[in-house]
Amino acid sequence: MKSINTKVEQFKESIFSTMTKLALENKAINLSQGFPDFDGPKWVIDLAIQALNNNKNQYAPSMGILPLREAIANNYKKIYQMPVNPLTEVVVTNGATEAIFCTCLALLNPGDEVVVLEPFYDSYLASIELTGARIVPVTLHAPTFNFDFNELKNAIGPKTKLLILNNPHNPTGKVFTDEEIDTIGKLAIEHDFYLLSDEVYEFLNFVRPHRPTASYAGLNTRTITISSTGKTFGLTGWKIGWAIGPEYIIKAIHNVHQFSTFCVAHPLQVAMAEAISNMEDYLKEFKHEYSRKKDILVTGLKKCGFNIIEPQGTYFVMAQLPAGENDVDYCKRLITEKKVATIPTSAFYLKSEDGKKMIRFCFAKKDETLESAILNLSNK
Ligand SMILES: Cc1ncc(COP(=O)(O)O)c(C=O)c1O
Repeated sequence: MKSINTKVEQFKESIFSTMTKLALENKAINLSQGFPDFDGPKWVIDLAIQALNNNKNQYAPSMGILPLREAIANNYKKIYQMPVNPLTEVVVTNGATEAIFCTCLALLNPGDEVVVLEPFYDSYLASIELTGARIVPVTLHAPTFNFDFNELKNAIGPKTKLLILNNPHNPTGKVFTDEEIDTIGKLAIEHDFYLLSDEVYEFLNFVRPHRPTASYAGLNTRTITISSTGKTFGLTGWKIGWAIGPEYIIKAIHNVHQFSTFCVAHPLQVAMAEAISNMEDYLKEFKHEYSRKKDILVTGLKKCGFNIIEPQGTYFVMAQLPAGENDVDYCKRLITEKKVATIPTSAFYLKSEDGKKMIRFCFAKKDETLESAILNLSNK
């Protein structure tokens, strides 16, 4: 038999699947995967049920239903004072993951280079590699997760087409400062590359109101803003995301989207259009709840002796391991001996060895799940 695609051949099972399998085998409490162990809000689920019963079950327009695109655009205007044309500058995708994939296919040619700040979300690598472009990692150094300006500058060259920024940042919980985004933005303008700004945790920023990269001076013409409703509504299985950007780029992203999935589940779009138009009160409660869950986990882990790096955003906490420990072995031991599953962070790095010295906990879990995990971890 002839071989399958040589790039796809290299793809391995994701660390999330590996850890979840191990957690199930060992009946461990799963603080590894990044999604809630509780359901999304009933009022949003009820909106989907209404749509299902209301004849919204055929293909949706490929760009996304207009009420959803309008609701997304209205929110960017209302929350971030960022004008977005719902007719030409938004495309609705199957989660942020598809938006990232379609953006890479839309922008990149073989030989192009993409700067990615590591540690990074694993779909970036696959999306870049399938295009034949080359990933150039730049490390965010623990414990601040700041980048070194010279390291970043040296990673940029004439072939740089795109830089991927994730803010707030998974897995570190870092929120980038205005100065850091301005620095990246200036380099993007000087060296003429695009920015893909993955902002799926935009409403999980505990230190200041979120600011989209595209709203910084001079960056709206070269930034593709990607977000989704999965994290915000705790409905990760709905996979409703979007890309926002200049018309010609959105057109190109849509060209890929129309030939990959064509459209996003119609009744869920109807529900989300309504939900995101009326989410002000919900967002306050959402942020408060997650801030509380963060405190439960951070306080609990500290009491258990973990060396925590307090997150500024997202629903993850990083812990630095004692000297001599290795992340993968440590995580396996936590599963078998303490019955708690976490993520070894070396999986998020390509270049630096830093990941071997840290593990990631997720606090998008019921209070009782977090408390049981802390109890297990505190048992000698
Ligand atoms: C940084 C980051 N980007 C994108 C995604 C995927 O989002 P979606 O579920 O909307 O595809 C995740 C999910 O964990 C993530 O952590």
